[in-house]
Amino acid sequence: MLEVKGLFKSFGGVAAISDVTIDFPTGSLTAIIGPNGAGKSTFFNLISGGLTPDAGSVSFNGTSLVGRSRAQIIDAGIGRAFQVARIFPTLTVEESLLGAVTAHRQRAQNITRRFPLPEMRDRMHEVAEMLGLTEKLGVTSANLSHGDQKLLDIALALVLDPKVLLLDEPTAGMGPDERWRMIERVHELWEREKLTLIFIEHDMDIVFKIAPKISVLCYGRLLAEGTPDEIRTNPAVIEAYLGTSHEEAAV
Ligand SMILES: Nc1ncnc2c1ncn2[C@@H]1O[C@H](COP(=O)(O)OP(=O)(O)OP(=O)(O)O)[C@@H](O)[C@H]1O
Ligand SMILES: [Mg+2]
Repeated sequence: MLEVKGLFKSFGGVAAISDVTIDFPTGSLTAIIGPNGAGKSTFFNLISGGLTPDAGSVSFNGTSLVGRSRAQIIDAGIGRAFQVARIFPTLTVEESLLGAVTAHRQRAQNITRRFPLPEMRDRMHEVAEMLGLTEKLGVTSANLSHGDQKLLDIALALVLDPKVLLLDEPTAGMGPDERWRMIERVHELWEREKLTLIFIEHDMDIVFKIAPKISVLCYGRLLAEGTPDEIRTNPAVIEAYLGTSHEEAAV
């Protein structure tokens, strides 16, 4: 279980995350929603070691992650993809994925050999297949479509064998059809890899359909958490974030 307790992070005078406590049970699927600037990406950065909290704790299966390096947090099993895909533009999809899986497993297993072992290549193919990138293995990453770059960013997290996967707006910048295809893939890989998956998403139709549990951030605070029905009908959430259309939709 990933446990976040009493987390705080400020930037100058801005309280980006303020006293946030959320548990993510092993194997759960949670959506994080909230208006722009609510602190969602900051929350992910605090879990994945991109930022250090001012106060509070983040622990995974009872071990604290606070103060550990990015590499240590990845090795502990926390993976993430970014709001703006972070890829290696000059490498092909295959080179990127194989480079990532090889570097990770060699470090984790303390191996010093130059070439990837067959099981590393197998994992690369397995992840490419899961994300629909098999046909694109030979393509230079910079030449991929926006959607495929987002898929590659997720694939780069997945080859590191995460137990917890944080996806920051996996459907950002996509048209409606592409969004649904992306989220179906995400849902499939959650089931197949038995991940604890947490995703940030602005499209409420997707959130309400896919996520059994939703946490709502607003001005850095946890405004509410619950099932889609609980969130859709929560007066504070409607006022701060949803407006009236979803209230009507729920009736
Ligand atoms: N590195 C930083 N330095 C200074 N301020 C920051 C930094 N990162 C985030 N902030 C501020 O913290 C607040 C929360 O930002 P954050 O990016 O976490 O929001 P968000 O919920 O992810 O928003 P969006 O939906 O637009 O992606 C904002 O006011 C933002 O300007
Ligand atoms: Mg963000």
